[in-house]
Amino acid sequence: MSSKRGSRFRIKPGGVLSGRVTVPGDKSISHRAMMLGAIAEGETKIHGFLQGEDTLATAKAFQQMGVEIVNDGKLVRVKGVGLHGLNGHTGALDLGNSGTSVRLMTGLLSAQSFNSELIGDKSLMTRPMLRVIKPLRSMNAEIDCTDKGTLPIKITGGRQLHGIEYELPIASAQLKSCLLLAGLYAEGTTTIIENEPTRDHTERMLNTFTHQLRREGSRIACDKADKLIGTEIIIPADFSSAAFFIVAATLVPGSDLILENVGVNPTRNAMLKVMKMMGADITLENERVQSGEPVADIHIKSSELSGIAIPEDCVSIAIDEFPAILVAAACAKGETRLTGAAELRVKESDRIQSMLDGFMATGIEAEATEDGMVIQGGQFDGGEINSHGDHRIAMAFAVAGMISAESMLINDCDNVSTSFPGFVDLARQAGMDIDYV
Ligand code: S3P
Repeated sequence: MSSKRGSRFRIKPGGVLSGRVTVPGDKSISHRAMMLGAIAEGETKIHGFLQGEDTLATAKAFQQMGVEIVNDGKLVRVKGVGLHGLNGHTGALDLGNSGTSVRLMTGLLSAQSFNSELIGDKSLMTRPMLRVIKPLRSMNAEIDCTDKGTLPIKITGGRQLHGIEYELPIASAQLKSCLLLAGLYAEGTTTIIENEPTRDHTERMLNTFTHQLRREGSRIACDKADKLIGTEIIIPADFSSAAFFIVAATLVPGSDLILENVGVNPTRNAMLKVMKMMGADITLENERVQSGEPVADIHIKSSELSGIAIPEDCVSIAIDEFPAILVAAACAKGETRLTGAAELRVKESDRIQSMLDGFMATGIEAEATEDGMVIQGGQFDGGEINSHGDHRIAMAFAVAGMISAESMLINDCDNVSTSFPGFVDLARQAGMDIDYV
């Protein structure tokens, strides 16, 4: 069964998670493989590319700019056109729900000879873009957006960018990656100072495409590139999709689940630390490095959790996992405090508000703050919630449905297919009683 427009999920309590499950490919790494493959010389073969709406939106945009991409659902072949081989697209490039596509591509397209316009869906059209536009302008890019700093973004081509030294004012891998992609084309060196770590997939993948960055402490230096060379990439399963099963298998008594081949990059995996602090039983098995990324099988056994104060230095390294982590907190004994997480308010939805709304509707006591949440662990009653069109909110409450007193009905689940196509089928296979209604 595949996701349908207007779909709602119903989850009945019960079930046990067991066996071995492989979640789809990593979204962040898939975007980067597509983008770098498109501007490399020669062919790039991508195994395990995420066939989700977000990454397919990136692929479509590059096809519209003249890149030949053959996608048989398993292997994706990208015929790279070289750093200067893209063609302008007449009309706007529509990047759907995908913030990563827009922010990274704004950097890349600022350096092209042609004009570009970027748009997205209702959620994306309201998300903040000045964080990328301002530093790109200081590199000599010409970019317009609305007065509110939102899409549509209009980029004037034919500008020669120059390198800058820039200290990231917010912990954002999208911003860092945007500037690194612009830095490939900028005269001189683009230096980024990152005081809080964020996912480093762009840095790792640029090395795979033979462009060496220099890293010294918190400074990342990128020189203008002569060329990137096409390569073969194996994409691991997405840790952020695995997160829902990590929480489910922890919370549902009697569960014993192995998630295979998951990316466990240290700039992504702080959720493991947070869950272990709460008392989770999680072990990494078969640890290895694949296409420059650490990968492991994650073995989870159910266990009782206790509330904690989540360390602030975990926030940027677990940013996408908070909907799942907060569901774990809602079932932990005692209070959990999340602070330093204001960025959650500008994700696909305001995730602090969306989680709070969901908790209120399903019997969990919680309070939102500017930059986080305080949750009193308890028991989900079940009931009806709205995902606010946010894939990760929908999947987090699907997990909650397994341990609720009554069924959980989740509205507005279409966007689950942006990051996790086949979620319902895989969740059923793992032991969740979930269906469309
Ligand atoms: C991403 C970075 C994160 C994350 C997003 C994907 C990326 O955003 O939330 O889902 O691929 O670089 P920020 O870097 O804006 O925090």
